[in-house]
Amino acid sequence: MGFPINRMRRLRGSENLRKLVREYTLSVDNLIYPIFVAPGLDVKLQVPSMPGVYHFSVDVVNHEIEELTKLGIPAILLFGIPSSKDDCGSEAYAHDGIVQRAIATIKQSFPEMVVITDVCLCEYTSHGHCGVVRNGKVVNDETLELIARTALSHAEAGADMVAPSDMMDGRVMAIREILDENGFSELPIMSYAAKFASAFYGPFRDAADCAPQFGDRSSYQMDPPNRREALKEIALDIDEGADIVMIKPALAYLDIISDARANFDVPIAAYNVSGEYCMIKAAAEKRYADERRMATEVLTSIKRAGADLIITYFAKDYAMWSKSG
Ligand code: PBG
Repeated sequence: MGFPINRMRRLRGSENLRKLVREYTLSVDNLIYPIFVAPGLDVKLQVPSMPGVYHFSVDVVNHEIEELTKLGIPAILLFGIPSSKDDCGSEAYAHDGIVQRAIATIKQSFPEMVVITDVCLCEYTSHGHCGVVRNGKVVNDETLELIARTALSHAEAGADMVAPSDMMDGRVMAIREILDENGFSELPIMSYAAKFASAFYGPFRDAADCAPQFGDRSSYQMDPPNRREALKEIALDIDEGADIVMIKPALAYLDIISDARANFDVPIAAYNVSGEYCMIKAAAEKRYADERRMATEVLTSIKRAGADLIITYFAKDYAMWSKSG
């Protein structure tokens, strides 16, 4: 049955009518805001490549957490920039490392804030790769131990969840094992399960100071054209004990999010990455298009594709926009 019996415009006549039949709504409840902690005292420095994103020193990071709490943002994803780097990223798993200190500081004043930590070595290694390098290659199995130690040190500092982003094979299992052995069997793992080797991480390299000093990450992150392989990566991570699986980036990978939703019953997270954020910020700055509408549309598309949780630099903006109606 078609026109004129069917008229699709009947339910589009007013905002309230549209609201009634809206299939997806975004909520601040599902947003996770990335936070970068850096060395120093009283530091709040804008990241050059990312408008509105800052490095905070540990002593002032709680000002930002307070703001997030007021905005109703329930969770953060914590990244650290250490004061020194070495071959094996030892600051990543140091007990008094930057992230470990930040976790303790945040949890002490804001126990309700869900502190999720990015577990990786790339910000901490002098070569900028996500694992141990031997003869110019990132070696898998030797890296696992360091990744696991990093996750455990975050747990000991008081993290609520760990999120391994290194893309080594077997790291979810290695983390699950070390956590369980040390009394953290209740601590959830959100794995960056299908993480693609993407140009959209460009601006983040400035934020986390983690550009590889040689080569790129394509020997461990996924090849962008591979859709079926993403499902295998996700299945393996769930098998190894991941509680939440993440697809990253989000916007150029909505099909992967949709596949993941259709195939798995665990919560799906998507990372709306730095390049996706900066595209919109840059276009808005040039007044090419409206920032709020573009950002809301993109976040909604990620939700519609099937993501339950969205990690996004727009979390604060979105929360502020929602409050202003
Ligand atoms: C570290 C890591 C990266 C991002 C999150 N964790 C960079 C990379 O893998 O190169 C990217 C985040 C973003 O672009 O917003 N492994």
